[in-house]
Amino acid sequence: MRKVIVPPIKSQGIKTKLVPWIKALIPQDEGSWIEPFMGTGVVAFNAGFKKCLLSDINPHIINFYNEVKNGDLTPYKVRKYLEYEGDELSRAADEGYAHYRFIKDRFNKNHSPLDFLFLSRSGFNGMIRFNNKGQWNIPFCKKPNRFSKAYITKIVNQVAQISAITDSNWEFISEDFRKVIPNAKETDVIYCDPPYHGRYVDYYNGWEDEDEYDLFKALSQTRAKFILSTWHHNDYRENTMIEKYWKQFNIITKDHFYHSGGKIQNRNSIVEALVFNFNSEIKKHNYELIPIEEQLSLFEKKEKYAVSRLKQVVNE
Ligand SMILES: C[S@@+](CC[C@H](N)C(=O)[O-])C[C@H]1O[C@@H](n2cnc3c(N)ncnc32)[C@H](O)[C@@H]1O
Repeated sequence: MRKVIVPPIKSQGIKTKLVPWIKALIPQDEGSWIEPFMGTGVVAFNAGFKKCLLSDINPHIINFYNEVKNGDLTPYKVRKYLEYEGDELSRAADEGYAHYRFIKDRFNKNHSPLDFLFLSRSGFNGMIRFNNKGQWNIPFCKKPNRFSKAYITKIVNQVAQISAITDSNWEFISEDFRKVIPNAKETDVIYCDPPYHGRYVDYYNGWEDEDEYDLFKALSQTRAKFILSTWHHNDYRENTMIEKYWKQFNIITKDHFYHSGGKIQNRNSIVEALVFNFNSEIKKHNYELIPIEEQLSLFEKKEKYAVSRLKQVVNE
């Protein structure tokens, strides 16, 4: 399996670690990949479809990717911008916070995709959150030297990779999911990763009973194949929406561990679920393909062990 393509924008719900698991379930069809809740786009960038329609209610995400796709935001521009603003950040008062505030205020007025990238990569814990006035609402990560040479190169490479993948077959739009799903055709694959019901909320991530019902209705009526990401249960409770809506479809689950803060004791676990409306031979729990590199290295390790064991036996 290819290495996971990591996008330049970060967010708390990013599915990077679950990509191999999701990918193993994706049916390859000749139609488009449709993702009505694209977020950072990590699943789409790794899904392997030629034609993609990606949408999100958050216009800043869409604006960013449209500029990368159109070539308005080049890796070169990103490097120059981050070198300049990163340097300003390292010399700013209040241990960098003064410049973070300056970029935040500027972004809240001009909505520049470069400022959006800056905030995404220097905000606390790589989170995206907007207040009820639609303004950026994440504090600074408190690292004035955030934009080191290596970090800038990493981000620039991520932008370059996305700019290489996205061509005229990729469409980025900012629409509510209710407008996107009904347009899917039979040969399309829809992947939905909505805000999780009863969990975090911000300006672009409100998710009420009514939204879950509308999503259920839209996915029940579609002729396309769909995959829905949701949570199944954690140590304290179950996701009641599974029982209410989703259990009539196929479901697979996987144990997932995540950090809700920097500290190791904040490691939490949750059982993730994929709900889907097509047939698959996939194992119900903890299914994952072992990446080919890992299989090879396991094989090499076994071989090395066998050789050294043989030498040992000969010398004994
Ligand atoms: C859990 S995140 C998706 C994360 C994404 N799969 C990733 O790996 O980065 C949910 C996304 O849905 C978007 N969203 C929330 N309500 C929406 C709606 N009604 N229609 C379309 N997008 C919505 C949010 O802005 C957010 O980016």
